[in-house]
Amino acid sequence: NEQVFILLLHMSPVSVVCLWAFLQTLKKTPLFDFHRDQGGKMVEFAGWSMPVQYKDSHISSHMHTREHCSIFDVSHMLQTKVHGRDRVKFMESLVVADVAELNENQGTLSLFTNDKGGIIDDLIVTKTDQGYLYVVSNAGCADKDSAHMKAKVAEFKAAGFDVDLEFLDEALIAVQGPSMSRVLQEGLKDDLGKLTFMMSTLATVFGVRDCRVTRCGYTGEDGVEISVPRSKVVELTETLLKNPEVKLAGLGARDSLRLEAGLCLYGNDIDDTTTPVEATLVWTIGKRRRQTKGFPGADIIVPQIKAKTAKKRVGLVSTGPPVRPHTPILSPDGKVIGEVTSGCPSPCLKKNIAMGYVEAAFAKNGTAIQVEVRKKAVPATVSKMPFVPTNYYSG
Ligand SMILES: *[C@@H]1O[C@H](CO)[C@@H](O)[C@H](O)[C@H]1NC(C)=O
Repeated sequence: NEQVFILLLHMSPVSVVCLWAFLQTLKKTPLFDFHRDQGGKMVEFAGWSMPVQYKDSHISSHMHTREHCSIFDVSHMLQTKVHGRDRVKFMESLVVADVAELNENQGTLSLFTNDKGGIIDDLIVTKTDQGYLYVVSNAGCADKDSAHMKAKVAEFKAAGFDVDLEFLDEALIAVQGPSMSRVLQEGLKDDLGKLTFMMSTLATVFGVRDCRVTRCGYTGEDGVEISVPRSKVVELTETLLKNPEVKLAGLGARDSLRLEAGLCLYGNDIDDTTTPVEATLVWTIGKRRRQTKGFPGADIIVPQIKAKTAKKRVGLVSTGPPVRPHTPILSPDGKVIGEVTSGCPSPCLKKNIAMGYVEAAFAKNGTAIQVEVRKKAVPATVSKMPFVPTNYYSG
């Protein structure tokens, strides 16, 4: 395409070779060739080559997910099994959740924290009835998460505890949207109606054995994530796509869907400089854990729950041009009170939505503030999240 050609003309031969070499080194999921066959526009994301969209526009793909259902390839995420008698104690030494209290086959959103109270990554931890914990964490944090867990395993083993890690090679697809349950039920022996939000089960899905189906997602819709053997993921995806309810969706739709649902993107909305309290993720900290502590940074995080913090993550709605990350947030009299961390035009609401951090005095729903877009102060309002009501399946 023309832009790429012009770009190449302006680059030295050495840079061209470097760019080419860089693109070759991107990691590929087992669906890589399939994405390209389906018209996927591939982009770099966290060191992976991933589809940002397919033939449909980003907006129509977003709306299709809200009205029907979509498949997202999320095989780039890190899937880990934690084995051993002391696996719960091990996990609780790293995350804020009350893992002991989870029911069998129940999962929860949790956070790896550091000694300063910052967030190393967000993750889903599921307490399976198969003698292991199943953990899914972010692709962009895979290296540091695995190093972090390995170091803690070494510490635990040295202290005589029984814990082991297994990093999985499985593919992972998310099927998200109101018609997911009708689509998936046709390929399941068991009643999907019994699998409520954040529950997980092993199943054969459309004849593909050894799948782990977890009722969760990143769109605000009812949905599942299916961990599936690599060699079978193309077959399963093709089978699901035979249903006219189902389309493929890429990273573009994924980002606007999760923002409408008020969900954080690690690296944008939360990172190792934000605490769970500043990020308004206090609900992820188990009640017992607030008493017994014992997770990294607890001595900083737990007192913040009562004392409040100087800054807080909030939702914003604005008129005018779309708001992007790093946009300054201003008080009504023009003083900088914070910064936007994610923003996009909402395809469902037809207005600009964003999240960001503001000084606590400005964090209340309905507070009139401003955002500075292209050197101009534009009116905005602090808003409750989710922006679009979520549709999780509670049975
Ligand atoms: C938030 O504030 C808006 C006004 O900006 C109001 O319409 C809405 O009802 C409020 N929502 C809640 C949950 O308080």
